[in-house]
Amino acid sequence: MQQKIKDIREEFLKNLQKISTPKEAENLKIRFIGRNGKVTQLLKEIKNVLSAERPLIGNLINELKKEISQSINQCFLALSGEVKQENGGDITLPGKFSALGHLHPITQVINQIEDIFRNLNFRIVDGSEIETEYYNFEALNIPLNHPSRDAFDTFYLKPPSHPATQSPVTRKQKTEAQKKIKDCKLLLRSQTSTVQIRVMEKEKPPLRIISAGKVYRPDATDASHSCMFHQVEGFMVDKEVNFTHLKGILSLFIKEMFGKDVQMRFRPHYFPFTEPSAEVDISCILCQGKGCSVCKNKGWLEILGAGMINPRVLERVGYDPDKISGFAFGMGVERIAMLKFNIQDIRLFFENDIRFLKQF
Ligand code: PHE
Repeated sequence: MQQKIKDIREEFLKNLQKISTPKEAENLKIRFIGRNGKVTQLLKEIKNVLSAERPLIGNLINELKKEISQSINQCFLALSGEVKQENGGDITLPGKFSALGHLHPITQVINQIEDIFRNLNFRIVDGSEIETEYYNFEALNIPLNHPSRDAFDTFYLKPPSHPATQSPVTRKQKTEAQKKIKDCKLLLRSQTSTVQIRVMEKEKPPLRIISAGKVYRPDATDASHSCMFHQVEGFMVDKEVNFTHLKGILSLFIKEMFGKDVQMRFRPHYFPFTEPSAEVDISCILCQGKGCSVCKNKGWLEILGAGMINPRVLERVGYDPDKISGFAFGMGVERIAMLKFNIQDIRLFFENDIRFLKQF
C-alpha cells in the first residue's frame, strides 16, 4: 500500500509538470482527488489494510490528498496570473538550485575496479590506515633492517598513551600497558598488503578479497608523487591456486578496465611477500604501443605489482603452505586514473579545484 501511495504521488508530480492551462489543472484534480479519483480510491481500499497499519496508511493518504490539493491551487493561481507579486518578486519562478556534485575521479576509478572484481566473485573488505609495524612489515616478510623496507618508506606515529598508563591500578598493570605500547609500534600503512594478513589471520581459505584505501609514504611531492595516495590490493587463496589463475584474473581485469585490445606483459620483479613476483605492464593506451611521451617511447606502461604469496607469509597466518597457495596483486589508483583520464600531475587530484574536478 505504501508503495502504491508513493507511485500515485510520483505519477501526480509528473503530470503536474505538464500542466499549461487551468482546464488541464482542473482535469488533473478530478483524476486524482475527484469523487472517483486515484487518491479517493485509495481511501476506499483502506479497509483491506491490517488494522494495526490503518492509522499510518490513512495518514499518508490524507497527506497526499492535502499535497495534491495545495499544488493544484498553486497551479491555478499561477496560471491565472493572480499571485505573481509578493515583496516585489515573482514567487512562481523556480527557486535557486544548488549545483549537483559528483564522485571524485579517484572514487570513480576505485568503484570501477571494485565492480570488475566483484563480478569475479571477489569480496570487498576495508582496512585500517593506522597499522602496526607487524602488519605493515614483519608479517609480510619484510624483517627489521631489511633493505627492502626502504622501498616502503613510512610515517611512524607517536605511541598513544594507553589508558592504563594514565590511571594505572597497580604497578604491574602499568608495566604491562607500557610493554604493549612498545610491542606495537604504530604507523600509517605504506601499502594495502596489510589487509592480506588481517583477513588471513581471521579467516580460512578459500578467499577472494579486494581492498582499496589510502596509503602514506614520506615522498617529496611532485607531479608523480604524493605522500598520500590510494592503492587497491587483491588476493586469492585456496588449494592449488597457481600463476595461471593470477594471469587469467589480471588479464580479465585489464581488458575490462582499459579495453579489449590492450596487451599485458609480466616482468620478473622482487617483492618480499610474493615469490615469484612480477610487475605487470600494459601496452600504452595513449599511443597503442607505438611510443609516446607518457610511455617514454617504450610502448608499455607499468600498472601493478603481483606474485604468488610467499609461503612464509602463509605460514605466519597459520596456513599450511603445502596445502594452500595464493596470489596477490597491488596497484596505485592515481596512476591508473592518470592514465585513463590522461592527467599529467597527481597533485590535481588533491587540490579540490572545481575546474579540474568538473571534467570527470
Ligand atoms: N604492496 C606492493 C607495493 O606497494 C604491491 C604488491 C601487492 C605487490 C601485492 C605484490 C603483491 O608496491
